[in-house]
Amino acid sequence: MSSNSTHDQELSPQDQLKKDAGVRAAAEIRSGMVVGLGTGSTVRFALEEIGRRISAGELTDLVGIPSSQQTEDLALCVGIPLSNLNAHPRLDIYIDGADEIDANLDAIKGGGGALLREKVLAQNCARFIVIADESKFVKHLGAGFALPVEVLPFASGAERRFLEQLGAEVNTRTQANGDAVFTDNGNVILDCDFGAIDDPLDLAASLDGRAGVVEHGLFIALADELMLASPNGVRLLTCAVRDPQGPIA
Ligand code: 5RP
Repeated sequence: MSSNSTHDQELSPQDQLKKDAGVRAAAEIRSGMVVGLGTGSTVRFALEEIGRRISAGELTDLVGIPSSQQTEDLALCVGIPLSNLNAHPRLDIYIDGADEIDANLDAIKGGGGALLREKVLAQNCARFIVIADESKFVKHLGAGFALPVEVLPFASGAERRFLEQLGAEVNTRTQANGDAVFTDNGNVILDCDFGAIDDPLDLAASLDGRAGVVEHGLFIALADELMLASPNGVRLLTCAVRDPQGPIA
C-alpha cells in the first residue's frame, strides 16, 4: 500500500467499486466512535474518506485502532487519530475487506497478512462491516482463494505437514525475492488451497485446536453486515445467524 492518495488517480472499474464500498462504510462513522481499521486496498478508500470527513470538520473525537502497520501508516497519513486496543478494548465499529465472503457473511481473510489482528478486532466490536466489490462474493469459500494460515516459524514445517494431511496444497507466502513474508507478529503465513471448503466450521475447529497454528483466515459468524459494491450500487447484506462466540453486543 503506497501512501499516495488515490483521490485524483484514474481508478480501474474494480477500484471504483472498492471506493464505492469504502465511502459507503465511512458514512456510518459518527463523532466520538472507536473505530477498528482493517487492512487492504478496499479499506484504503474507507480510510481516505474518514480522513476527509475529519479534515472537513464532520467528525470529531474519533479514534482508530489499526489492524496492521500498513494501516497505521496510512491512517496517520490521512489524519486519523490512533489509539490501541488496550486503551479502548471495545470498538463501536470495525470496517474491513475480505478475500471471499458468502451469503452467510462467513469470509476468508488474510490476503494482506493481517488476519490475526483483524480477527482480534472483529471479535471485540459492536458492529463489523465487511466492504467488498462484487468479485469477492462467492458460493463456496475456498474455491477461488487459498486459505491463509498464520503459523509459528518454529513449527512451520510441522504445520505444513498437518495442513497437507487435512487436504490442502500448501505454499509458504514469500516476497518477490523469495524470502518468507513475516507478519506484524513475527510469524509466517502458509497459503492453503483446500478447494471449495465443504464445512468451514469443522475446518476452523481443526485449525483452532492445533498448537503452532497462531490463527487462520476463516472468519465464521463474525461479520454483521456486508457492503457489496457492483456497477448498480452498494448493496447492504445482513445475516440473521449469529454465533454466541461472535461480536460482543
Ligand atoms: C488483509 C485482508 C484484506 O481485507 C483482504 O485481503 C482484502 O484485501 P483487498 O481489499 O485489498 O482486496 O484480509 O489481511
